[in-house]
Amino acid sequence: MATKDKAKAETDGKATGGDTLSITDNRTGESYEIEINDGTIRTMDLRQIKVAEHDFGMMGYDPAFLNTASCRSAITYIDGEAGILQHRGIPIEQLCEHSTYLEVAYLLVFDELPTQAQLDRWTYDVIHHTFVHEDIKKMNEGYRHDAHPMGMLLASVGALSTFYPTAKDTEDHEERYMAAIRLIAKVPTLAAFAYRHSMGYPYVYPDNELSYSENFLSMLFKMENTYEPDPRLAKALDVLFILHADHEQNCSTNAVRAVGSSDVDPYSAVAAGVAALYGPLHGGANEAVLRMLRQIESVENIPDFLEGVKNREQKLMGFGHRVYKNYDPRARIIKKHVDEVLEVTGENPLLEIATELEKRALDDDFFTSRKLYPNVDFYSGLIYEALRIPTNMFTVIFAIPRTSGWVAQWLELKDDPEQKIARPRQIYTGKRDQDYVPIAERDGPEKITGPPARRPKLLRRGA
Ligand code: CMC
Repeated sequence: MATKDKAKAETDGKATGGDTLSITDNRTGESYEIEINDGTIRTMDLRQIKVAEHDFGMMGYDPAFLNTASCRSAITYIDGEAGILQHRGIPIEQLCEHSTYLEVAYLLVFDELPTQAQLDRWTYDVIHHTFVHEDIKKMNEGYRHDAHPMGMLLASVGALSTFYPTAKDTEDHEERYMAAIRLIAKVPTLAAFAYRHSMGYPYVYPDNELSYSENFLSMLFKMENTYEPDPRLAKALDVLFILHADHEQNCSTNAVRAVGSSDVDPYSAVAAGVAALYGPLHGGANEAVLRMLRQIESVENIPDFLEGVKNREQKLMGFGHRVYKNYDPRARIIKKHVDEVLEVTGENPLLEIATELEKRALDDDFFTSRKLYPNVDFYSGLIYEALRIPTNMFTVIFAIPRTSGWVAQWLELKDDPEQKIARPRQIYTGKRDQDYVPIAERDGPEKITGPPARRPKLLRRGA
């Protein structure tokens, strides 16, 4: 297990070259020297800046964490300007070419590539924990036929905590190992069960003879005993799994860390990650890309669509990234695999629309000046569709490999001596010192009748 040496962490936290930042508070004329480490100041160091002794002290204001590092991490390195992504120092291109998803999961969790014996043991442990308790099936049966599989996955990952209550002992390394194994092993089964429920098909149990990605395809598509996963498609899916395994402090990983910081069990923390990934600005974007391509309908409609984007009527889904201000390296790899997959499964007319849409957007100053390039989701939906995976399963497929990243990040959090329960501050902007008014004395209409439009409006922003 990736254990971080406390002493080393403390040394890492010290100033590297005596660099400092001088701040003069023009309210008081006082000057302060603040240490700079790794190009970063500690926001807590601002607290000493006060106008008066009893002041709380200065805080940093950073909605959505645009410029705040919340942790030190040794898992994933991204250089957004240069379009570089590395896991434990190894470029994503090399991992996609030479590795497998399960080996990458080991790398993320243990901080190094496994020997053959270590990989065999890891694979054995994962493959032999793919079954889920029969009660999970009963739980699934309670959903409506059209329940979104991501909502079902979210609930069933959270429910795992009730099946493995000893995982609450988060300081026990054996419990941590078993939670890592169980999460990586069971999420594909939970995902496939959610799909089979939505189709009204009987559930297919895991097959220990198959590889990780073959087994997932089998649990999705097997009818009677006839399904044999095409190895080329299983390989393409495995590459997609590698590409989605981790992506440093994105919205869902931040959710896992924030919730995990309360020392809740890892299943509950990972369920928070699933919830965050569900959103259309995060994992739900690949689903939105396909809807968008279908809505565009044909290449001729692209100019009108792009005009609409520029007029802020809609977003160009699958474009833009908080960190990448260059071509997302994952999108480049996926684009290469789209053709290989379509060779097996047949042409998809949406590919022509996607290719032309990308070309025109990259020729357009609106997108280039904002450094908006295709991200991982722009082409991944086309591969999923070619694999006959329904659109509402796309985010679920993202969640399967991201589970290993969430687990690795959760383990790193647990071993980080600097981490505490996550608890941001706020700048309070509301009323103060109001008196409670008895209900009979309050202003407002005497009677509310009519349509729901008369209900109080909640959408204040942009109203
Ligand atoms: N289409 C049109 N305009 C865009 C887009 C887009 N996809 N993305 C950003 N912009 C504009 C945005 O309106 C803003 O313009 P202006 O400065 O004139 O107001 C500018 O570009 C900067 O954007 P931002 O909203 O400040 O960027 P952000 O870092 O907050 O958001 C993002 C990043 C991914 C949420 C956003 O680019 C977006 O919504 N993209 C579409 C959804 C998408 O594809 N998400 C998948 C992300 S990759 C998968 C993952 O890792 O989760």
